[in-house]
Amino acid sequence: MNRRPLIAGNWKMHLTLAEAVRLARAVAETCGACPDRDVMVAPAFTALAPVCEAVRGTPLLVAAQNVAWEKEGAFTGEISPAMLTDIGVGLTIVGHSERRQIFGESDAMINRRLLGALAGDIDPVLCVGETLEEREAGRTFAVLEEQLRQGLHGVSSEQMQRVVLAYEPVWAIGTGKTATKEQAQEVHGVVRRFLAGKYEKNVAEATRILYGGSVKPENIDSLMAQPDIDGALVGGAALQAESFDRIVRFR
Ligand code: PGA
Repeated sequence: MNRRPLIAGNWKMHLTLAEAVRLARAVAETCGACPDRDVMVAPAFTALAPVCEAVRGTPLLVAAQNVAWEKEGAFTGEISPAMLTDIGVGLTIVGHSERRQIFGESDAMINRRLLGALAGDIDPVLCVGETLEEREAGRTFAVLEEQLRQGLHGVSSEQMQRVVLAYEPVWAIGTGKTATKEQAQEVHGVVRRFLAGKYEKNVAEATRILYGGSVKPENIDSLMAQPDIDGALVGGAALQAESFDRIVRFR
């Protein structure tokens, strides 16, 4: 099974509007030079529309960092799938560990967001990952299976064609402590086996599973050489055109 690689930049709560547009233009240029892979950036909400505008006509994919499940209504502080499609956004991250850890989002809420995205023409990138405490207690696979079981509740095999998964060990995010390629591959293999059990084998084989957590120009090549790692979700190193360019051009 040949899965098309996806390199995604999660800009989190960074960059002014001018900086975001400048960076998006630079990434779009890199992306145009690498036609055999998908490239995505996820700017803050305030920069989404101008970034979409700036990269229109290029292959660069623009994603939101989160999404609500209803089309509209009394949901202060939220952005709906319809609002995203309205400005040309086609994807969103859901269940990022910072949403889970800092803002208390539960698996059930993340599942609603994911289903809302699918229903609203937005393709979700669902993040899962264990904390250091969970890993040290030997609970990594149990935690991931639960996050996947709840996160993908009610998602059909057909809808899975639009879902990307991202394994992001919480202890590796923003810490400079990348999972070793062996650790990452082991978990990706487990995630793929979970998918084969829940869906058919061909769904498991077709689903892209990204690794995230201190991905850098120095470690991207060895991560991407793993059979079950189909791309990367990059935080810190996605904020500079130069380092993200090298990551997109992994060999
Ligand atoms: P990082 O963040 O690359 O800065 O570790 C990754 C993420 O949170 O998506």
